[in-house]
Amino acid sequence: MENKRIAIIGCGNLGLTIAHGLLDDGFEAAALTATRRNVNQLRDLAAKGVNVTADNLSAVNGSDVVVLAVKPYNVKPILMEISNVLDESKHILVCLATGITLAELAEWSGKTLPTFRAMPNTAADVNESMTMICDNGASTEQRTYITSLFDKIGSTLYIDESLMEAATILGACGIAYVLRFMRAMIQGGIEVGFDAKTATAIVSQTMKGASELIIQNGSHPESEIDKVTTPKGCTITGLNEMEHAGFSSALIKGIVASYKKIEKN
Ligand SMILES: NC(=O)c1ccc[n+]([C@@H]2O[C@H](COP(=O)([O-])OP(=O)(O)OC[C@H]3O[C@@H](n4cnc5c(N)ncnc54)[C@H](OP(=O)(O)O)[C@@H]3O)[C@@H](O)[C@H]2O)c1
Repeated sequence: MENKRIAIIGCGNLGLTIAHGLLDDGFEAAALTATRRNVNQLRDLAAKGVNVTADNLSAVNGSDVVVLAVKPYNVKPILMEISNVLDESKHILVCLATGITLAELAEWSGKTLPTFRAMPNTAADVNESMTMICDNGASTEQRTYITSLFDKIGSTLYIDESLMEAATILGACGIAYVLRFMRAMIQGGIEVGFDAKTATAIVSQTMKGASELIIQNGSHPESEIDKVTTPKGCTITGLNEMEHAGFSSALIKGIVASYKKIEKN
């Protein structure tokens, strides 16, 4: 399965982060094609040796893996456009668009292809994405290959398609929730004495450290919190004040509201 050629159709924000992640990991530039209508925006990729074109058909023809990175409303017209050149004996289809189901991909492509949905997040840009993946009709070998591609831009988790919307909320929207939390911590840090740049540096590394404690130790957040909360101390006083103001409840309600919104759309 190695040495496959990949075409990223609709190489915008997310497509670019994936292209950068693959190149950073040593993926051969000449085996990568990126498309968008305004190809001038892909000059940097072209300079790195990536094939850049506005022609989706030639990109699909010259690839083994077709990654659809366009907005959800562009998926159907593009699949109809490339349907004739999608080869059931060659191509693997991967769709990153929010809310497009495997059944819709099969219907719109009109082909029986190994098809994946993948939900990365924008931390792919620094090879720290959390990417959730599901598929229809893929072999174990193809699953391993597609998972290995997304492993190049962070961590991956295989899930049931019924959880893909929940994955979008927790993983992709999750970046925004966490960043808003960081912004609030930085604002608090400024109020207690740091300039914005120093507060940002402290909060960013503290956030990274807290994540690594959970990732590397496999512990529950509350057991790590217990290690910081001295009886009658300042940490528990602050934490309880946050909870009185609805901290955990606000986060949970926000996640559920986002989920209800994605379900409705
Ligand atoms: N951002 C996230 O965190 C995230 C996470 C997971 C999944 N997603 C999904 O990823 C997808 C892309 O999101 P994004 O933020 O990267 O959007 P984006 O920046 O708008 O990228 C989409 C690109 O598609 C190109 N495009 C439009 N029509 C095209 C066509 N006919 N042929 C070729 N290219 C075409 C556009 O460029 P031109 O106008 O130059 O053609 C645009 O740059 C969305 O479906 C989103 O749901 C996003």
